[in-house]
Amino acid sequence: MSVYLITGVSKGIGFELVKQISEDPKNVIVGLVRDKAATVKKVAAELGDRSNVHILHADLTSYATLKQAATDTTKIVGERGIDYLVANGAFPSHFDAFDPIGALGDKVEELEDVSSKLFKTNVVGNIHLFNLFVPLVLKGKVKKVIAISSGHADLDFINDLEVENSALYAASKAAMNVIVAKFNAQYKKDGVLFLSMSPGVVEVGQFDSVTPEQMQGLMGFMGKLAAYAPDFKGATPVDEAVRTIRSTWEKASIDSGFGGAFISHFGNKQWI
Ligand SMILES: NC(=O)c1ccc[n+]([C@@H]2O[C@H](COP(=O)([O-])OP(=O)(O)OC[C@H]3O[C@@H](n4cnc5c(N)ncnc54)[C@H](OP(=O)(O)O)[C@@H]3O)[C@@H](O)[C@H]2O)c1
Repeated sequence: MSVYLITGVSKGIGFELVKQISEDPKNVIVGLVRDKAATVKKVAAELGDRSNVHILHADLTSYATLKQAATDTTKIVGERGIDYLVANGAFPSHFDAFDPIGALGDKVEELEDVSSKLFKTNVVGNIHLFNLFVPLVLKGKVKKVIAISSGHADLDFINDLEVENSALYAASKAAMNVIVAKFNAQYKKDGVLFLSMSPGVVEVGQFDSVTPEQMQGLMGFMGKLAAYAPDFKGATPVDEAVRTIRSTWEKASIDSGFGGAFISHFGNKQWI
């Protein structure tokens, strides 16, 4: 039996994590979402009556909602604490997803707004999340904090493949990786594993409504991925991706040298 706190469970990787983990009725899952009513409805419709799933409201850009969620989580999990804290929720900006950074320079206001939102959500939001929930993680048995990052944040990956797109998003994930390492620096001695993990390229429908021009930018990136990993056949189905992610976080430990590390879903620096 393990207790999980997962952010961003309304859809995509987060929802699939809830689905797979709650299949074992002994596990307890607390999922944080912005729209609680919609997710409660979705869980009931797609997963049925799973009394081990608890959906709470929280927005990563609002400290007050995260604090309330921590209070409510404490009431649910009690002295068991949290075994796995999974920082999955993120703002996946589309503004910078299809173009090189140099092509965004004249969209001054949007560039500044998106950058601020990325930092507030993906970096500061997770700082608050970690600070508010670490007391519960310290009470848990497993003591693992996993931040879902992105291979986009790896400098060798960017430079070797000349990956031009997603500059702002990548920078927010790189900053988050540093924060995760800083939390590791503080809490490793308490036995808490802090780890940043890229999930690979996962099919969650994020590019379902792109324009033909955006698709062109995306295809350029996909071509580079195919050159990087000749076996790459496109995005991984979310159920398969979540099984891989979970198996890798099970293997990772402080003793095996993963404290504060930034790794792929394979547990290394192979991003695809
Ligand atoms: N899919 C991939 O190929 C891929 C690749 C690399 C990294 N990732 C990372 O994987 C994680 C999951 O993403 P996904 O692919 O599953 O995308 P997704 O389907 O878009 O899910 C993103 C989740 O984050 C939540 N979220 C967004 N802004 C939030 C905020 N301010 N406060 C709280 N929650 C917020 C969303 O909730 P709402 O429904 O309220 O918007 C949603 O549940 C993210 O960290 C993403 O960066 C994904």
